[in-house]
Amino acid sequence: MRILMVCLGNICRSPMAQGVMEHMVASEQLQWTVDSAGTNGYHDGEAPDPRAIRATQFRGINIESQVSRKISSSDLDDFDIILAMDHSNLSYLLSMCKSEQQTKKIRLLMEFSPTGLSDHIPDPYYDNRFDFALDLIESACTGFIKEFRPNKT
Ligand code: 4NP
Repeated sequence: MRILMVCLGNICRSPMAQGVMEHMVASEQLQWTVDSAGTNGYHDGEAPDPRAIRATQFRGINIESQVSRKISSSDLDDFDIILAMDHSNLSYLLSMCKSEQQTKKIRLLMEFSPTGLSDHIPDPYYDNRFDFALDLIESACTGFIKEFRPNKT
């Protein structure tokens, strides 16, 4: 499975989601690939926000080598599932789709969280709540792996 995490700037939420999912995928020994992208290209070529790097590092996950990039139309074919962090990202992604096959790939990451705490990841770029964003991301990634890993028990 090829998974793409998507937020607005690709420097806070989706890099953290990529890091968390990669970490869980490795622990579960799954042969999945994970990447991330942003719907705007304002931070193209930049490393993740230092606050995102710090908060993720605190949980034992290193995301500092990630590089921000804008989503491209080929991503809609190259990935099996594309997970939006919020409803604005979701609408943008749906507006890019040119076929039913592409539309079916677009989901909200928080659909997979069993907690019901939030249906989206609030943007910590503005409110500094990086730990809260990571809590939400971890719960959704755990739920996602439970749903899709082979031979689930
Ligand atoms: P992200 O957060 O979408 O989680 O990466 C943001 C990063 C940068 C900006 C907005 C949101 N910005 O406007 O520069």
